[in-house]
Amino acid sequence: MKTLVTKRLILRSLKFEDLIPFFTYARKPNIGPNAGWKPHESIEESARILRMMMNENEVWGITFKEKDELIGTIGLHVRNFENALANQKEIGYVLDDTYWGQGLMAEAAESVLKYAFKDVELDQVLCGHALTNKQSQRVIEKVGFYPTHIEQREHFDQTMIDIQMYEIKRKAFLKGEKK
Ligand SMILES: CC(C)(COP(=O)(O)OP(=O)(O)OC[C@H]1O[C@@H](n2cnc3c(N)ncnc32)[C@H](O)[C@@H]1OP(=O)(O)O)[C@@H](O)C(=O)NCCC(=O)NCCS
Repeated sequence: MKTLVTKRLILRSLKFEDLIPFFTYARKPNIGPNAGWKPHESIEESARILRMMMNENEVWGITFKEKDELIGTIGLHVRNFENALANQKEIGYVLDDTYWGQGLMAEAAESVLKYAFKDVELDQVLCGHALTNKQSQRVIEKVGFYPTHIEQREHFDQTMIDIQMYEIKRKAFLKGEKK
């Protein structure tokens, strides 16, 4: 994966050495459920998911510039056939709660959008958050996505939850891009 560099962060390919920091935050009860997945119950579970993400090659590991230690992930996913046909992908992200509230994910998302539109030449990028997830809503608003519709998605506990969906088109992003 192309390494992306922002003011404070490096977004790079995941590696096996990320396992311990990954498990450290993936087991916390306030991380995964907000993104639709169950907190990890063992380091073996984290290892399986890490291996899967490494094979899929759609997810960057996020680290600070000064220290090559995983603090979160951000991915650009083809979720379904419709996405592939429309030349669009969906962003998903999580950050260890130790680092919340510093505007880090908006910084990471902006660099992924730049990559998505300039390098991959996607036509639009989608993003969504559970209606209850105000923190993710703020990130999405700050980055400049437009709300489109609400759709239902299955949560890890098999209940259906409402997801507010957003999109940003290539032209709009490139026009509004900060110089
Ligand atoms: C969503 C998430 C990535 C936001 O990352 P972040 O880098 O902390 O984002 P920001 O610093 O821009 O903060 C976003 C909002 O969270 C709130 N917030 C900030 N610090 C907080 C804290 N310590 N605890 C709770 N909420 C906090 C604020 O309302 C902030 O909005 P503001 O900038 O207008 O004040 C992070 O909260 C997270 O990983 N959550 C769990 C997983 C998740 O929800 N993933 C997204 C799925 S759609």
